[in-house]
Amino acid sequence: RNVAVLLAGGVGSRVGLDIPKQLIKVAGKTILEHTLEVMHTHPQVDEILILMSRGHLDSVREIVRKGGYDKVTAILEGGATRSETSMKALEEIGDPTARVLLHDAVRPLVSHRIIGECFSALEVHEAVDVAIPSADTIIEVDENDVIRAIPPRSALRRGQTPQAFRAGTISRAYERAAADPDFVATDDCSVVLKYLPEVPITVVAGDERNMKVTEPIDVYIADKLFQLTVQDQPQGHTDAEYAERLAGKTVVVFGG
Ligand code: CTP
Repeated sequence: RNVAVLLAGGVGSRVGLDIPKQLIKVAGKTILEHTLEVMHTHPQVDEILILMSRGHLDSVREIVRKGGYDKVTAILEGGATRSETSMKALEEIGDPTARVLLHDAVRPLVSHRIIGECFSALEVHEAVDVAIPSADTIIEVDENDVIRAIPPRSALRRGQTPQAFRAGTISRAYERAAADPDFVATDDCSVVLKYLPEVPITVVAGDERNMKVTEPIDVYIADKLFQLTVQDQPQGHTDAEYAERLAGKTVVVFGG
């Protein structure tokens, strides 16, 4: 049983509109619906749970009904933090043998390739992250913004979602986290890393396009990426192939 969870319990305060960012329309559809569409059309996804911020569940019900997304088995209210939202989803799944993808609903450009590779990795591993190299040098600072460390960039990655787990494993990690009064996390793999250090977490290659809509400019970037994706990039192409096509396109646009 493969379950995809769409984490949509946040309010999008950094984007700063009066609706949660997952309900903003880009390229003709809400961000949430784009994400749902990718999950729904993936042949390995059996079930979808959507956890939505309070007061907006009716919008989700409407999207699901209109789009005929019959893999959606539950629409629930999210928690106060992302971690609480994940925990609620795991409680709802309630089956330690399930395979679970926990995905930010605000990453609408996730690809079928990434989802498929997450499920494949789960055949062998109990926990899977999705990440890409960093073009920027990442610095670590102290509370006064003085540099503490500059780790070598070659060893660093930027974590994306989905993150995939055998349900029993991630549930166990969250049970231990719940007993820790200092628990904080911004993703699910860090919970496994901290509370189940014996479990190796494998990494699947993400994609630059699998961006998280976070700041106002990201809405614009996502919209542009959808235009390119729809025209030029059927699901499953690699970044290299995509770059080649884009390069070809640029020559036509500027040279012709
Ligand atoms: N999320 C969630 N439940 C929460 C908080 C966040 O399900 N209580 C989800 C968001 O809806 C989003 C994903 O986690 O899909 C990534 O979080 P983030 O980008 O930080 O979203 P927000 O919390 O909505 O953004 P902000 O911090 O700007 O308010």
